[in-house]
Amino acid sequence: MADTTTPTEEELAAAGVRLDIAGAVATVSLARPERRNAMTGRTWTALAHVGQSLPESVRIVVVKGDGPSFSAGIDLAMFTPEGVEGERSLMRDLRDGAPDHAALADTIAGYQAGFLWLRRPGIVSIAAVQGHAIGAGFQLALSCDMRILADDARLCMKEPALGLVPDLTGTKPLVEIVGASRAMELCLTAREVSAEEARDLRLAEAVVEGTALDETVDDLVAGLLDTPAEAAAATKKLLRQAPDNTLEEQAKAEREAQVERLAALARNERD
Ligand code: CAA
Repeated sequence: MADTTTPTEEELAAAGVRLDIAGAVATVSLARPERRNAMTGRTWTALAHVGQSLPESVRIVVVKGDGPSFSAGIDLAMFTPEGVEGERSLMRDLRDGAPDHAALADTIAGYQAGFLWLRRPGIVSIAAVQGHAIGAGFQLALSCDMRILADDARLCMKEPALGLVPDLTGTKPLVEIVGASRAMELCLTAREVSAEEARDLRLAEAVVEGTALDETVDDLVAGLLDTPAEAAAATKKLLRQAPDNTLEEQAKAEREAQVERLAALARNERD
């Protein structure tokens, strides 16, 4: 069941997240700069809660990180037997010989919910990335519809180097953007991608000086808000489904969406 109640300040603070809503724009900030915005399970379940409870009036979601890094990825304490205070250790149960694989997969599904909502049609999500976006941080940026990078940004899919796989919904957008071969090279070497290379690989819509990051994102937000909300949502839905559709399926989807748009415009003219 979706929890549509507004997250409390306490929940967000414990998760290292801040939420600011100003009219149609929500800004979600990762707010543990002293740990380079390392994220825990609680960060991701709080992000899921933010997504579920966002007012319908919100059309744009900006995801950013406080301090020098967008995010250093998962809090590495999550992998220690001690875990993170107040949270379930990913390793303890497995190590103690009672591996409930299904329960662990459910836990990960709850984490993934924190990333999935950023693609939904009613909003456009933008990641504003400075400094490092590593592992889960890179996947969070990939979950957004667009990425604006500061020129010091460094992207890295670190998971395979730690003996793991990227599991926070980042593999699909990565392959869609850079292709399977390049995605393999990036993931299986876990090397850092500079902002300049990210632009060349189309992982960034723009690369700007760090001091211009906020202003560039604001300009993009203003441009996006100029387009009528319903048309934007219907167009985003079409674009998102295009890679998985045949040409005929996509043409049909375009027709159906357009008929709805025309009917809505005619209705507006009548009223
Ligand atoms: N988890 C916990 N603490 C972290 C952290 C992380 N991922 N990243 C940084 N920190 C802490 C550091 O331990 C340090 O703490 P102290 O001040 O107590 O020493 C503090 O944050 C500042 O870090 P640095 O001094 O290292 O800062 P920097 O600016 O020099 O470097 C960095 C930044 C390149 C991000 C570096 O901190 C780093 O490499 N961090 C680890 C990155 C990592 O391996 N993340 C995991 C990726 S895998 C994943 O995310 C997904 C998954 O599911 C497996």
